[in-house]
Amino acid sequence: MRKGTLILAAGLLCAWGAVSQAWAGDAVKGEELANTYCAACHGPQGEGMQANPPLAGISEEYFVKTMQAFRAGTRQSATMGALSGSLTDEQFAHMAAYYSQFEAVADEFRIDGPLHHVSASVCKSCHEDIFAQWSGSMHAQSTALRDPIHELMYRQEVGDPRAEGEVHNRSQRFPVCLNCHAPNAAKDQVTKLDAKDAYAEGVNCVACHQISGYKGVRRAEGGLRLGILAYETSSDTLQGATGFPFDKTRAEQQGNPHLPTGELDTFGVVIPASLPLQGNPRMLRSSELCLGCHHLRPNPQGVPLCATGDEIEASGSQVTCQSCHMPIANGMANHSMGGGHSVAMLNRAVKMFVDVESNGEGVMAHVVMENQLPHKMPTGAPFRNVQVKVTALDADGNVLWTNFEKHAQKEDPRSYLFYQLADDEGKPAMPPTATQVGIDSRLEPHERRVLTYEIPAQPAVVRAELLYNLVFEGMKPRIMELTDDEELLQPRRMAFYEARL
Ligand code: HEC
Ligand code: HEC
Ligand code: HEC
Ligand code: HEC
Ligand code: HEC
Ligand code: HEC
Repeated sequence: MRKGTLILAAGLLCAWGAVSQAWAGDAVKGEELANTYCAACHGPQGEGMQANPPLAGISEEYFVKTMQAFRAGTRQSATMGALSGSLTDEQFAHMAAYYSQFEAVADEFRIDGPLHHVSASVCKSCHEDIFAQWSGSMHAQSTALRDPIHELMYRQEVGDPRAEGEVHNRSQRFPVCLNCHAPNAAKDQVTKLDAKDAYAEGVNCVACHQISGYKGVRRAEGGLRLGILAYETSSDTLQGATGFPFDKTRAEQQGNPHLPTGELDTFGVVIPASLPLQGNPRMLRSSELCLGCHHLRPNPQGVPLCATGDEIEASGSQVTCQSCHMPIANGMANHSMGGGHSVAMLNRAVKMFVDVESNGEGVMAHVVMENQLPHKMPTGAPFRNVQVKVTALDADGNVLWTNFEKHAQKEDPRSYLFYQLADDEGKPAMPPTATQVGIDSRLEPHERRVLTYEIPAQPAVVRAELLYNLVFEGMKPRIMELTDDEELLQPRRMAFYEARL
């Protein structure tokens, strides 16, 4: 686990080189300060104690920048915020010189600093199945290092996911994207996402299991706090759905790092659990756990891009997100959390059938679609789209008629379910620049919609298919330059029905 920190130290040397030139720290003065202010929690030589992370072997640049972030409040910590407030940059430099001279602590059992620095690989050693499910989910691919669709937009809106100090072009602020797509990096106000595994992993185990409370995305005083800012988090205690019963016997607790072993240290004090965990069903079993990141997200002009949470709220549905997205299978809450990338999940979204009646020389086909979901279909990212493809075939399977050949939107607009953003003149615009909502033809929560077609032929079969696309056609070539995954942008068949005559 120390490896992450060491890589971080090396990686940031050039970016923060200027800091060390400004203050040549004096390790002797640093030792005095450290003993006075810091040793009680971080240990005399920065070896760390329980939830107080080790400082030994820390890079000077990382140390100074981190202390400045605590002082400015851009990295939030009640303890460190108060402590750093009265200290000067010069004093930071002295302590940096002191702590950096020690060997980094190598101890497999300890959490490397606050919870949001813990990599999923730590959890993997015991929770293999859940790790495997999570690894295949979009939560594990949520950063620009791993998701080519996000990478395309991130590079355009922000810049290089491997560089420190990047800002969001339009706002000139810390990239808001990271609040949701790389919440652990956002907590530290870091934009170099390969600096720590816990950053590169995006929405990893601790990203969710550190969430202890929900503040909401809308501030009482107006404005929004998105993603990780919408939550209260714990820096030292994992949050679980159930917790553990108090009457568990020691034998049952063996090997469970979330419970204290009952052993005492030299001074008779109970040694705490190495990965303390507390039961918090109110949070973990509620939709609020998801809403900080999934409620809504507007672009800089205030136009809503994603609004899954708002959609559910408006529908009045009381079903939690977990009940569909984390079904219990084999006694375990499933962490695959499928959405638009998952055919299995898409197959559950819409009930579709076709009623056919004869109509003189031809037939009349009613394509009935019932959205099973308490959110829109498709929901989420604004380039998701669905085509309703209707085909009439003869007994040999020859196509007699179809509602569109190539372009659903041009040839049969009502068969195209999508969310189009627009500019001032109402012309289609991309998410970052849009100033208003253009067309929203998606199925509303629980909507039943019927499309009726007059087919001028006598088919043996009328077939209807729903074809789901992650992005608009125009975006596909640029995304394919960023990935080898041939399947990624292929249309997914989410519903299929054949009416035989
Ligand atoms: C009362 C206990 C306490 C004291 C005293 C304290 N710290 Fe901390 N420190 C913490 C905790 C807890 C964290 C983890 C905070 C978080 O990130 O949420 C922390 C985090 C840090 C970090 C960030 C480490 C990392 O890996 O990112 C640095 C640097 C740090 N402390 C330096 C100091 C220095 C220097 C002093 C003395 C001036 C000091 N601390 C005194 C408790 C303490
Ligand atoms: C997107 C948020 C999220 C992420 C990411 C996440 N979890 Fe969970 N996890 C939850 C929620 C919510 C529950 C509670 C589900 C329930 O009880 O209905 C849960 C439950 C669990 C449980 C209890 C399982 C059971 O059914 O008893 C374990 C163990 C667990 N998570 C481990 C992990 C590990 C390990 C990772 C990373 C590989 C991880 N989680 C990633 C949200 C998350
Ligand atoms: C050394 C083994 C080990 C490691 C490492 C480990 N766990 Fe666990 N965890 C357990 C055991 C044992 C249980 C209890 C039995 C079970 O639920 O599987 C448990 C249970 C849990 C639960 C369910 C408790 C509840 O109240 O719902 C959650 C959540 C959880 N672990 C999350 C994590 C996360 C997140 C990590 C990584 C930061 C992690 N665990 C690392 C062994 C481990
Ligand atoms: C810390 C922020 C965060 C939290 C908390 C969170 N998510 Fe996500 N989720 C994301 C991000 C970011 C993505 C998109 C990753 C991408 O496509 O680049 C995502 C993707 C998804 C997807 C997949 C979409 C697709 O394209 O296939 C589903 C489904 C989902 N989340 C459901 C949930 C549920 C259910 C919860 C609560 C149990 C939850 N999320 C909690 C940030 C979060
Ligand atoms: C009744 C079951 C159900 C409930 C409840 C539900 N979803 Fe979904 N969700 C689905 C299905 C099925 C899909 C796939 C179809 C689609 O993309 O619209 C989906 C898709 C998604 C996607 C994928 C969007 C994308 O861009 O790929 C996200 C994100 C999502 N849901 C989040 C949530 C959140 C957050 C909640 C709770 C506030 C929630 N869902 C509640 C069934 C459900
Ligand atoms: C409030 C949280 C939040 C913020 C802030 C945010 N996103 Fe997202 N983003 C999500 C979620 C959640 C998803 C996936 C689920 C969905 O479609 O709703 C997503 C999906 C995406 C996708 C589609 C990914 C795919 O695999 O199809 C792109 C592209 C994207 N976001 C780009 C960005 C960029 C660029 C920024 C910053 C300018 C940003 N996002 C800011 C939450 C957020």
